[in-house]
Amino acid sequence: MLIDILTLFPEMFDAVLGTSIPKRAAEKGLVSYHLTNIRDFATDAHKSVDDKSFGGGPGMVMLCQSVFDAVESVERQDYAKSVRILLTPQGRLFDQSVAEELAAMDRLLLIAGHYEGFDDRIVQGLKPMELSIGDYVLSGGELAAMVVVDAVVRLLPGALGAEDGAADESFADGLLEYPQYTRPREFRGMTVPEVLLGGNHAEIAKWRLEQRKQRTKQRRPDLWRAYLQKRSDGLADK
Ligand code: 6GU
Repeated sequence: MLIDILTLFPEMFDAVLGTSIPKRAAEKGLVSYHLTNIRDFATDAHKSVDDKSFGGGPGMVMLCQSVFDAVESVERQDYAKSVRILLTPQGRLFDQSVAEELAAMDRLLLIAGHYEGFDDRIVQGLKPMELSIGDYVLSGGELAAMVVVDAVVRLLPGALGAEDGAADESFADGLLEYPQYTRPREFRGMTVPEVLLGGNHAEIAKWRLEQRKQRTKQRRPDLWRAYLQKRSDGLADK
């Protein structure tokens, strides 16, 4: 997979792409990251990438010209067709199913904006998929782009070591994770549930599934409803 990232702050990505699983995936040749500074495509003497909003109001708006030129220049550098993604609070909510969709693509082109937003003709003209990572306001799309990259890259076949294991984790099947424990068996009076120490793998699996269901029901009724719905749909199919 090739991941192009267009941003005004490429240095923000160094820590995330240079650490842990995103770094290891690149070392294994599963993915390469290509960062481009949108400001390199500014054409005026001041290297402007934004301006005041027509109609008034606070904040600056990202200019069409530098973003279009950056996207078109980057896309010409490789033959693979890219999935264009614009990070914006107006986008579709990014979740595990979107991450899975994107993990199947050959090339992603992420556009992270700063300032109040993008000139709407960037959306009209480039027709990107618009993604948001949640209902809160960030100062820019960079952190959101990093969230997307991390969630996608760890799904690439071979990205996780045997110890990591992706299939078992929260959201892979719509339930939260079960509680986990490691040594010691007792810590400050708190003990490890007996079933986990017995070595009965069927009993352990049963306990863990039950814990996952209880937690999901209590903490995330939205996920619980979706899980029940999916299960009843599945039964109706048979
Ligand atoms: Cl993608 N961008 C910004 N600026 N804020 C956000 C976001 C994106 N997703 C959630 N909040």
